Amino acid sequence: MTAPNDYGESNPLETNQKILICDDAVAACQRAANLFAAAIHGWPDLKIGLATGGTPVKFYARLVQLYQEDILNFEAVKTFNLDEYIGLAADHPQSYRSFMNEQLFSHVNLDPANTFLPSGIASDIDAEVQRYEQQIADAGGIELQLLGIGHNGHIAFNEPGSARDSRTRLVDLTERTIQSNARFFDSIDDVPRQAITMGIGTILEAKAIVLLATGGDKADAVKRAIEGEVDESNPASFLQTHANVTYVLDNGAASLLERRE
Ligand code: PGA
Repeated sequence: MTAPNDYGESNPLETNQKILICDDAVAACQRAANLFAAAIHGWPDLKIGLATGGTPVKFYARLVQLYQEDILNFEAVKTFNLDEYIGLAADHPQSYRSFMNEQLFSHVNLDPANTFLPSGIASDIDAEVQRYEQQIADAGGIELQLLGIGHNGHIAFNEPGSARDSRTRLVDLTERTIQSNARFFDSIDDVPRQAITMGIGTILEAKAIVLLATGGDKADAVKRAIEGEVDESNPASFLQTHANVTYVLDNGAASLLERRE
């Protein structure tokens, strides 16, 4: 097994807020994955929070590569995803469970019993959201959480207007989010209008957070998240109130930042 600092990264659970700017999207994804690798090396039974979407595809590819190279072992790791669409069964091709199976779970030695997502087809959604919060609590909480960011500043499916202390719950997706996600579906009419999402309060309880954003189309959302007012109209801005967030960006996503390191 390779030592943690062979990734060129320190364990993100042992650092403070910082901004890492990479040349391009692939480099950013690899760097974010290296942070997770360093953390899993430090704590082989790490509880990680995971995200879906277009951005993290190369992030998962890097984790799979590290596993295939016998550098990373997921045997004792537990995973908790941020969200799931309402109405899509686990085996629906566009469900987030399917995304995770394709990008990560089926390629590494994660125990399926250690991979958690809310169910989008639960008959009692209130019970389901409570159950999911309880599963996170029973595991002892999430230690390292991956986040993407929406063009409207959402984190997970916490759309503008979400409260800082919001918990896992049923939410309506905004028109902008539905349009952004239509690219994964045959038609925009197929995009679910609702989802179960971890709340902002739930997310902020993670010990450390890595926000991964790539591409110039995210530059405005990233700038508002890092340098904007902390406000419900901009959910990602609540990350400014967390002690340990690493923002991993490519040049495009970082292009509007005044504060660059
Ligand atoms: P994306 O989604 O990676 O597909 O851009 C990110 C998000 O909405 O959080």
